[in-house]
Amino acid sequence: MIGSANGARVGITGLAAHVPERVYTNADLEQFVDTTDEWIVERTGIRERRFAEKHEALTDIALPAAQEALEKAGLQGKDIDLLICATVTPDMMFPTSSAIMADRLGAAEAGAYDLLAGCTGFMYALAQAYGMLAAGLSQRALVVGGDVLSKILDWSDRSTLVIFGDGAGAVVLERVERGGFLGFELGADGAGGGNLWLPGSGSRHFDEPDSFVKMNGREVFKFATRVLVSSAEKLLAECGKTVADIDVYVPHQANRRIIDHAAGKLGIPEEKVVVNVDRYGNTSSGSIPLALAEAEADGRLREGELVLMTGMGAGLTWGSALIEWTERTAA
Ligand code: ACO
Repeated sequence: MIGSANGARVGITGLAAHVPERVYTNADLEQFVDTTDEWIVERTGIRERRFAEKHEALTDIALPAAQEALEKAGLQGKDIDLLICATVTPDMMFPTSSAIMADRLGAAEAGAYDLLAGCTGFMYALAQAYGMLAAGLSQRALVVGGDVLSKILDWSDRSTLVIFGDGAGAVVLERVERGGFLGFELGADGAGGGNLWLPGSGSRHFDEPDSFVKMNGREVFKFATRVLVSSAEKLLAECGKTVADIDVYVPHQANRRIIDHAAGKLGIPEEKVVVNVDRYGNTSSGSIPLALAEAEADGRLREGELVLMTGMGAGLTWGSALIEWTERTAA
């Protein structure tokens, strides 16, 4: 699915992220699996990640980000009419985490639902919220992306434990006078789904006790390096832009090698690439908003700049968005 914006200017007017307090370094993981700091850094670029405490669930991590994003947009919960939460680790299947957060934020007028698209969830949710605003169905939307993958990792499987982390981010979408989203490209390849799966999580294998993430890392690596490039190229062409027009590139923070490969193939210079995988690992749906919020905090997102985001993950799925940044003006 691909499309460029048809005149409706919708932008991000509030942005924030939140991670659990507890830091696990690579050395900390050596007590659970047979691994080394050297192996993890060399193969992934990851040095540490945050893992939630036993009592913490998704909404505990995501609510502070949602609250701060609203504040930055100069809004309160009651002002939003749509809340989409992209996650594969909701507090529980129902009530949905979005409904729980809408209640906690005082968003009594908001339609609220969770969205499942693996690590690409945040990109899908952005596209949906954009569509709702462009169609006039929503005036102000809150899009949350977050995961606590530590809860569904096998802490004895070194091939998955070392690459993931917990975190969340949130954005407010509103109509803007300048800039805004230029287009989206979303895709899914269910044939590759078996390379990253959670077998005991639904109605197919509900009676199996196995509810841990399984991954064929090499296949996911090949998929990721391919779609980060193809999705970006398709979207840029659709929007009449070139790689040279990109000011800031925010790829899914899965693995430093994947990011470097994609940026290299696309021809995006290192100084334009946002990277924080070294400190947070792969936070799934939290990855892109977490990186975006960090880029903003570092003063890297300026008025009129073109920002490209591309996510990919379980499904297998992928999704890109191109946005001309609008600096916030107090509401
Ligand atoms: N520590 C030490 N050794 C390890 C570890 C570890 N944590 N994990 C695997 N190994 C070993 C393997 O057992 C293997 O040993 P062998 O040669 O004796 O069999 C060796 O290291 C090489 O294993 P590979 O799997 O070939 O290593 P690779 O270079 O492919 O790196 C990795 C593995 C990091 C998982 C890589 O494949 C990768 O990043 N894939 C993409 C994963 C990903 O991004 N997933 C999520 C994307 S979607 C989403 O965000 C949900």
